[in-house]
Amino acid sequence: MKLNLSADELLTTTRAVRRRLDTARPVSRALIEECLDLAMQAPNGSNLNKWRWVIVDDPAKIRRLADEYAEAMKMAHGGDGSVPAQAFIDAGKGIPGYDKVLQTGFELVEKLRSVPAILVPLIGGRPETQAYATQAAMWASVIPAVWSFMLALRERGLGSCWTTVALLREQQIAEILGIPQEKYAQVGMFPIAYTVGTEFRKAWRKPVSEVLSYNGF
Ligand SMILES: Cc1cc2nc3c(=O)[nH]c(=O)nc-3n(C[C@H](O)[C@H](O)[C@H](O)COP(=O)(O)O)c2cc1C
Repeated sequence: MKLNLSADELLTTTRAVRRRLDTARPVSRALIEECLDLAMQAPNGSNLNKWRWVIVDDPAKIRRLADEYAEAMKMAHGGDGSVPAQAFIDAGKGIPGYDKVLQTGFELVEKLRSVPAILVPLIGGRPETQAYATQAAMWASVIPAVWSFMLALRERGLGSCWTTVALLREQQIAEILGIPQEKYAQVGMFPIAYTVGTEFRKAWRKPVSEVLSYNGF
């Protein structure tokens, strides 16, 4: 089933989905592969295809990844990881809807345990050992494809949420999934599920005029 969204609708309604991930509805591998096939049309440095895609749909492994996610939230937020660290609260001052971002962010910790699948995208190489321009090329050789994957999911009535907090547990996740960490860097952890309902709205962003300049900074 496709939603037949216009390109502009797709670009303006592909949201970070947490609360509305439908954990009861299975997602087929064929559907995930279809979305990946589309996603891999994204640009990547010299067309080297240095990406790897690890889909986790074994419920026991999903729970182990969710445990690492919960642990990372504790590391990021202190305490038992159930309330936001002051630095996170301060960082969002004046951002409309920021309270909800924090609240639903914590709800994802539990939700993640029962999602049908999780994507862990990888890019070949280690950014921390590279020069700045090379690091930029590494990230840019996988991030456009991950976003395309999220767009492809959305068009099919599914959703995800870009998460990077679990990278605080990159090593432990590499061990769980058998990823050769010295050769591949993880991009994040992406839940995959049908969404509860398919209506999503345009989100608040700063106005273009506030962040745009011509011919110089
Ligand atoms: C680099 C990056 C890291 C993020 N990390 C997390 C995360 O660890 N956990 C989470 O729940 N959401 C995470 N998000 C989702 C953002 O909170 C979300 O994109 C933002 O609030 C805007 O919401 P929208 O995507 O629905 O417009 C991340 C997004 C990006 C781009």
